[in-house]
Amino acid sequence: KESNASFMPKLKQEQSFSNQLQPQASFKVAVLGAAGGIGQPLGLLIKMSPLVSALHLYDVANVKGVAADLSHCNTPSQVLDFTGPSELANCLQGVDVVVIPAGVPRKPGMTRDDLFNINAGIVKTLVEAVADNCPDAFIHIISNPVNSTVPIAAEVLKQKGVYDPKKLFGVTTLDVVRANTFVAQKKNLKLIDVDVPVIGGHAGITILPLLSKSRPSVTFTDEEIQELTVRIQNAGTEVVEAKAGAGSATLSMAYAAARFVESSLRALDGDGDVYECTFVQSELTELPFFASRVKLGRKGIEAFISSDLQGLTEYEAQALEALKPELKASIEKGVAFLHKQA
Ligand code: NAI
Repeated sequence: KESNASFMPKLKQEQSFSNQLQPQASFKVAVLGAAGGIGQPLGLLIKMSPLVSALHLYDVANVKGVAADLSHCNTPSQVLDFTGPSELANCLQGVDVVVIPAGVPRKPGMTRDDLFNINAGIVKTLVEAVADNCPDAFIHIISNPVNSTVPIAAEVLKQKGVYDPKKLFGVTTLDVVRANTFVAQKKNLKLIDVDVPVIGGHAGITILPLLSKSRPSVTFTDEEIQELTVRIQNAGTEVVEAKAGAGSATLSMAYAAARFVESSLRALDGDGDVYECTFVQSELTELPFFASRVKLGRKGIEAFISSDLQGLTEYEAQALEALKPELKASIEKGVAFLHKQA
């Protein structure tokens, strides 16, 4: 069973809005950057999950109103708000999953790497607090550039002596969501059936959809492969340009992040059949971090799905080699940022 188009497959529609619904599990989830463009719809989607008993919302400003608003939804979880660094430790106490969409988004003409200078420091500070207050939590990094912010988070956790590589995840679910949508549209497939693994990283050519491994099995012409691959790689920029200065993907990103949260909670709850693509410490290639499908369990990553990297088409094999130098440089930039600070 794959996590797919519906990220809450076990919920009947009418149940999710019912005040009769008791929590099916009692996990605590924290969102850091909860008043932002991603944070608000993500908070709403997490508020709908029957697996959550407490939703902790943290931001440097404007989070009180978001929490008051969400708290009126008649779903089981209790919503609490936390504003500014003095309340961050309390926000993180006892939390099972921490999601980090804090930081600045792209404007037209910017690459994800252009966000590095601001977001690197934000992620560093927030992950330090995670290390001090809930070192066993699953950590989901959304803040860009993910290819660098995940290595930064890993270095922070190492310095604090609490790094568990099985529990630190760069959220690349949006690349999979986009690939599934675009392939289904192109091939007239039922959306819920389509699953395309996306490997590599989360920026430009480092995003590599493995169209040959699409399920159900589909054949593409060379032109279709080229067109779909480039569209998936540039889909974020499509949104940045359409929003024309008002930010980057927020709603589809919240949807994707909520799917990854739900998958993590199902894994923590003992579901033995949870798979997601994510950017993590990895030995699948010579790069120290790499996005691939992984199996999730109670203790984080249980297995890497290495078979996805076998039997690649020539196009995919070349694209994989071509992305490595850029991904390597982004990883090294993240690691170096932390050592410069030390
Ligand atoms: P936004 O600007 O709307 O919201 C960011 C929020 O972070 C704001 O509420 C801000 O107050 C908060 N924030 C800033 N500094 C903070 C700190 N030190 N502690 C806590 N909160 C802080 O931005 P948006 O659109 O929500 O994007 C957030 C990030 O997500 C950006 O870095 C963006 O590039 C990234 N992103 C990642 C995607 C992915 O696929 N991984 C897709 C889309 C965006």
